[in-house]
Amino acid sequence: NPAKPLAGKKVLVTAGGTVERIDPVRYITNDSSGKMGYAIAEAAKRMGADVTLVTGNATADLPAGVEVVRVQSTLDMMDAVLARFGETDVVVKAAAVADYRPAQRADQKIKKNDDTMTLELVKNPDILQTLGERKTNQFVVGFAAETNDGERYALDKVKRKKSDLLVLNDVTVPGAGFGTDTNIVRIYDEAGLVEALPQMSKRDVAERLLGLVAERLNASARR
Ligand code: PMT
Repeated sequence: NPAKPLAGKKVLVTAGGTVERIDPVRYITNDSSGKMGYAIAEAAKRMGADVTLVTGNATADLPAGVEVVRVQSTLDMMDAVLARFGETDVVVKAAAVADYRPAQRADQKIKKNDDTMTLELVKNPDILQTLGERKTNQFVVGFAAETNDGERYALDKVKRKKSDLLVLNDVTVPGAGFGTDTNIVRIYDEAGLVEALPQMSKRDVAERLLGLVAERLNASARR
């Protein structure tokens, strides 16, 4: 069915920002609104897929007709994604994931004492990389939010994290990246640039991206 190129596929999308608690009233997060990932979940649904949306902190309206799993921290997101990975055909990791979390999470509100205070952070696992290493038949799409040397980092990420496609957005460009209704992306695979898209709505970016995913899934099914 050409109108539903993802019919019969299970698509898992991550979106929003992960939240790392410092104490009961404070946390570290980022500017992700969830708009990009939610648009991908919605587009996947329109294209016929069975969709699970694993979402961190976000302000966008949740899409209808998809299974929603709410998470807080990067570790929670990792658990939610890995628990479903075996039965998933396509994973799209649009979430903005905290690379570090506080080494300790205080059970009580931290009191104001000294003039300076140091918060020790420890590295979180890389979910996308873990998926790349564990994948069997799954098609894995990563994102890269960069502020400089985007192409170099994107090519490095697509190879190192063993993603099938990687979507680069330069988050310093107006109309692209965090919070906006539009995005400007370049899509890479390990061989290099696949498609450079002009500024368009996140809905249109989502459709173009999933169109490419469907094409590649069908091509490998025919082989
Ligand atoms: O939500 P919006 O406001 O619409 O904004 C959209 C967006 C800018 C958040 C989105 O388009 C985007 O770029 N998402 C990825 C942000 C990000 O975390 O980029 P990164 O370059 O730090 O990470 C690269 C990839 O690895 C991402 O797919 C990320 O999900 C993944 N990652 C990163 C760190 C980590 N510990 N685990 C991961 O899986």
